[in-house]
Amino acid sequence: MTTTSSSSSSSSHHHYNLLLFFFFIISTTTTTTTTSPTTFIYAGCSQSKYSPNSPYEQNLNSLLSTLSLSSTLTLFSNSSSTTFSSSSPAFALFQCLPSLPLPSCSSCIHTSLSKLSSLCSSATSATILLHSCLLRYSNSSFFGHSDTTLLLKTCGSSLPSPPFSFDITTMLDTTLSQLQTSSSSSSYNVAGAGYFQAESQCDGDLSPKSCAECVNLAVRQLRNACGGAVAGDVYLGRCFARFWSINDFYSHKPSSSSSSSSSSSGNEGEKTFAILIGLMAGIALLIVFLTFIRRAATDGK
Ligand SMILES: *[C@@H]1O[C@H](CO)[C@@H](O)[C@H](O)[C@H]1NC(C)=O
Ligand SMILES: *[C@@H]1O[C@H](CO)[C@@H](O)[C@H](O)[C@H]1NC(C)=O
Repeated sequence: MTTTSSSSSSSSHHHYNLLLFFFFIISTTTTTTTTSPTTFIYAGCSQSKYSPNSPYEQNLNSLLSTLSLSSTLTLFSNSSSTTFSSSSPAFALFQCLPSLPLPSCSSCIHTSLSKLSSLCSSATSATILLHSCLLRYSNSSFFGHSDTTLLLKTCGSSLPSPPFSFDITTMLDTTLSQLQTSSSSSSYNVAGAGYFQAESQCDGDLSPKSCAECVNLAVRQLRNACGGAVAGDVYLGRCFARFWSINDFYSHKPSSSSSSSSSSSGNEGEKTFAILIGLMAGIALLIVFLTFIRRAATDGK
């Protein structure tokens, strides 16, 4: 089980006493980079198993090694194998996030394959989801078929309660609406508003229509289940949608985090302070000058 951002880098937290705007920016960006591409998310295996050395096993093994090789060249591939027996074909696909460089995609698929053999040994069909890649196979063709079965739903911790000088709920709402709107245009989408980011992806063999339906359903479940959380993941049969916060709400008080959204008023305060310092320095200088003049006048007598 995983969420994309609930883990935080505690090492940077003690810097907050300095209350420097820069530290705030740096810390909020570093807290989001703790998830690795191969972070395990889900494994689903059929109850039925194939028998050792069966034609199906041979087809499947040859297919999986073909896909493993393909993952060094492309981020998505669906394929079937009847190499050893045409009566028991194997079907499989893999997919990586578009942001993943090919070598990383390949090593992600390698990790999926080793998870497969440890978690779904000899299963007739299986799905392995890692953070940045997935692998599915079956003894029946599933290419182009929609599947909106709920596989996994995870919500992060609750959002801190109001009052805030900014509206967290609206930020999350806008982020999820953006994701829903963009889901009809591409199989992978990102969205973000304020302190939230989100992404969705469908398997590359789905039609745009099936993809949009799947993502819409996933986002609706995210809204209902994780609407008050700092992060949420919903994985359906052939798509997923997830969001996370780029602000670590719990590592510092909302009052200090609001300094970013109200930086203009902070600058005003700094300006007033600078003017005050300047004025005091001016007065001090004037006093020193007048004293000097007076002393010079007395000395001259
Ligand atoms: C796939 O395997 C299952 C379990 O062994 C079996 O019931 C089913 O008929 C198979 N499907 C095909 C298309 O061979
Ligand atoms: C991959 O999936 C698409 C969409 O369903 C299908 O048309 C195509 O034949 C599949 N490719 C292979 C190699 O099976």
